Amino acid sequence: MASRPTSDPTRTFRGSIDATRASLSGRGSGRPHPLLSMERPSHPDYEVHKRTLHQELLDSLDFEEVGNVPKEKLRVRLQNDLTERLERRTLPLNRLERDRMVQEILDNVLGLGPLEPLLADPAVSDILVNGPHQVYVDRGGKLTLTNTRFDDNRHLMQIIDRIVVAVGRRVDEQHPMVDARMADGSRINAIIPPLALDGPVLSIRRFSKKPLTAADLTDRGSVPHPLMLVLKGTVQVGLNTLISGGTGSGKTTLLNVLSGFIPEDERIITIEDSAELRLQQPHVVRLETRPPNLEGRGEVTQRDLVRNSLRMRPDRIILGEVRGTESIDMLTAMNTGHEGSLATIHANNTRDALARLETMVGMGMPNMRTQAIRETVVRAIDLLIQQTRFPDGSRRITSITEVVGLEGETLLTQDIFVFEQTGVDERGKVRGVFRATGVRPHFADRLATHGIHLSDRLFSFRMEV
Ligand SMILES: Nc1ncnc2c1ncn2[C@@H]1O[C@H](COP(=O)(O)OP(=O)(O)OP(=O)(O)O)[C@@H](O)[C@H]1O
Ligand SMILES: [Mg+2]
Repeated sequence: MASRPTSDPTRTFRGSIDATRASLSGRGSGRPHPLLSMERPSHPDYEVHKRTLHQELLDSLDFEEVGNVPKEKLRVRLQNDLTERLERRTLPLNRLERDRMVQEILDNVLGLGPLEPLLADPAVSDILVNGPHQVYVDRGGKLTLTNTRFDDNRHLMQIIDRIVVAVGRRVDEQHPMVDARMADGSRINAIIPPLALDGPVLSIRRFSKKPLTAADLTDRGSVPHPLMLVLKGTVQVGLNTLISGGTGSGKTTLLNVLSGFIPEDERIITIEDSAELRLQQPHVVRLETRPPNLEGRGEVTQRDLVRNSLRMRPDRIILGEVRGTESIDMLTAMNTGHEGSLATIHANNTRDALARLETMVGMGMPNMRTQAIRETVVRAIDLLIQQTRFPDGSRRITSITEVVGLEGETLLTQDIFVFEQTGVDERGKVRGVFRATGVRPHFADRLATHGIHLSDRLFSFRMEV
């Protein structure tokens, strides 16, 4: 991006803004953002006055001097300054409009502009900016259009720029796509014109301060309690487990919960593209891939990390998401004594999950026969858990499936528990039934040898939600 003139409103205070810029989730604990409850101003000249005042404030500031003022102090100081400047003018604006103008300028100068009110709302999990005039948020799985607006493409680019610069990345014509993780774990993706046709697009997935727990998942009907107990057992005894699901279906959340069942005396190595897992055990080594630098060098892939982790004496390897040729090393690890490894995969059902896994292995080992690939898969994977996101925003486990073996070239699996949707109630909530299929899994014996006995009643389990 071209260097900016000093009077450019994008100028901010390094020291004071860094913490904010690097964190997209650490807010919302205190008061609600004042702009959340305010109507958009109707006065036709509001924006013009705002811009003038904004510029006037910037022109009056000594950036060197204020750069060292603590953020809260600076905020109060600028707020007073702006209020006074506004008082001195005779503008046709009411009290609320004046308050709003001060707040908007402060947000632009000290933070991430129009995104601030959304970031202050803890219920917002995703913020999706499609060009300057269309901003959606995801609250509890439901997308809604907000009345948040950026002035124009340039304004939006300034905010995107602030976010990516905070994590040492850049976005410009040469690098029109960035994918980055903020210091607090939130993930952002930005893609700009000419690739994005209607203006810069910014997608923010916030890292929730408190990840969902096993109890949260059972309480909200995502996983019935008895099924959670079964899964706890399968993790404790070390079944190799693959969680599959579509985008945003809750794979990582479930992986985090299941990882919580790993006994405390085991050495766990986690491998992720962007570290999201938050394990509570004392003995966890966290690894994260690295994208290539601006010259295209220095990339460290998941495959590199899986291979390296095998030399680190892991008891368990947890792979955030299998997406490429690291699947080969992962399966090899699972087949060679690293039992109880866990991973997620992007797929809409268990059949597709296995097919995708096969394809990924095939891409890395083009000479390997399908039969051999399937044998490896069958020997490695014990359990498949399908996670699904429903139209009402709810997420559930929709099947727990055992990988049984191979018959000829066919992979045999059997569902142990399934969720079937029966309808939608008058409030739009999905209704359905969790039920056992009646099949007693082979892994029941394995659990029994560890003292975990699954009662027969479990295999006639049925629960309506
Ligand atoms: N069982 C659940 N009930 C309600 N909300 C959930 C549930 N599981 C996850 N969520 C929420 O859904 C969102 C997506 O969850 P998560 O990141 O686990 O999904 P994912 O499948 O890993 O997504 P991605 O495809 O982006 O990797 C998060 O905001 C999370 O808090
Ligand atoms: Mg995920």
